[in-house]
Amino acid sequence: MANQFTRQCAFLALAMYASCTPGADPGPDTAAPSGARRLELVRLVRNDCGSCHGLTLAGGLGPALLPGALHGKPVAGLTEVILNGRPGTAMPPWSRFLSASEAEWVVTQLREGFPDAH
Ligand code: HEC
Repeated sequence: MANQFTRQCAFLALAMYASCTPGADPGPDTAAPSGARRLELVRLVRNDCGSCHGLTLAGGLGPALLPGALHGKPVAGLTEVILNGRPGTAMPPWSRFLSASEAEWVVTQLREGFPDAH
């Protein structure tokens, strides 16, 4: 019960965060993740991806995921790596945790400078 309440508060906080971010709400008719889901994705990337790609995404076991490092790499290819991983490397597949459109959103954010999870 308490846990569910905490979750709802987190979702509310995110909805407020999203509505304060210019251009963050693409409207209901796109496949982009909702405001609440965005916070979950930001946390996933900062916590789980950051464990390999570095807390600031500047690289670690995995390469840097900063705008400069991803510049010029096609969104589709990077989205594919997130969903399916890179066989033979430490990069695992994430398709159980995020959809294709969510992975694409993550890539778009990484290329622009990833938001902080507040
Ligand atoms: C267990 C460690 C690990 C985790 C966790 C991890 N990665 Fe990776 N990732 C790697 C490694 C290692 C590579 C480089 C693979 C190679 O050698 O091609 C990589 C490659 C990538 C690439 C391709 C980068 C490029 O320049 O081609 C992207 C994008 C990426 N990871 C995103 C993510 C995202 C997003 C997450 C979290 C959802 C994540 N990774 C979690 C280890 C990890």
